[in-house]
Amino acid sequence: LDIVVLAGGISHERDVSLRSGRRVADALTGAGHRVTVLDPDATLLDAIAAHKPDVVWPALHGASGEDGALLSLLEAAGVSFVGSRGDDAALAWSKPTAKTLVARAGIATPASITLAKETFRDLGAANVLRRVIDRLGDDLVVKPSVGGSAQGVSLVGSEAELPRAVVEAYTYSDVALIEQRISGVELAVGIIDTGAGPEALPAVEIRASSGVYSFDARYNAGETTFFAPARITPEAAALVAETAVAVHRLLGLRHVSRIDFILDAEGTPWFLEANVLPGLTETSLLPQAIEASGRELGAVYGALAAAARH
Ligand code: DAL
Ligand code: MG
Repeated sequence: LDIVVLAGGISHERDVSLRSGRRVADALTGAGHRVTVLDPDATLLDAIAAHKPDVVWPALHGASGEDGALLSLLEAAGVSFVGSRGDDAALAWSKPTAKTLVARAGIATPASITLAKETFRDLGAANVLRRVIDRLGDDLVVKPSVGGSAQGVSLVGSEAELPRAVVEAYTYSDVALIEQRISGVELAVGIIDTGAGPEALPAVEIRASSGVYSFDARYNAGETTFFAPARITPEAAALVAETAVAVHRLLGLRHVSRIDFILDAEGTPWFLEANVLPGLTETSLLPQAIEASGRELGAVYGALAAAARH
């Protein structure tokens, strides 16, 4: 196939995207495909038209890809691409929206509150944060409501730590998502669909040396230990896989996604988020899951590209 890989873009995750794009391009080239890597700018549609690829692979992360805008543009231009439709990507991109949809389907997700920057400012930080603590307790995770790679994410263990965490989240989004912290095993479940329906790959278990799967722990080799497959019981693995497929389906995702959970001591998987264009770097989770399933990256990426072609 002739494949254009999109990598870079203008989001906070630009560097991660460049690394994902390079690795996807290498794997596809190794599997015999002809690959061009483009960094999207205002000339994107013309550049794609000039290459006339069979399919485009958007290895974009963050707002320049996962918010759905660029994917909708590709759809409107009639370009075949790997990944979810723009509208579906936009829903999943908003963590509070995805949590609401998933909770309505009866899947556990940590109790949470969204806090807009204006509310925080207008009602006064102390007031608002007291209400948060009253509702959720003080063992919390604070995140920007959109975004990836753990940028702007803080773990909070006391009331005193909350204001700084909320302000940090506002660096990346005008809305902060404050969630109860669930203790358990952190798991990422890759989903691939090459035409026969969504399939869950083996769950990958994440153990960051620092205890927190931060930006640094994600992209510096050796800072996190991964177990692929996860060290969980077959029953838990089956439940996590089934739940991940259910989330992928109910969010209307297409071809590929990664669904993240905490598995608690009782065996309940708590949905954290869905990643529409999951990281594909050397240290990322989806490639490890593909390899743990006994398959080659190039073969799987090629099959996804073939499935996306129309
Ligand atoms: N947002 C990063 C790239 C991930 O989901 O892996
Ligand atoms: Mg993410």
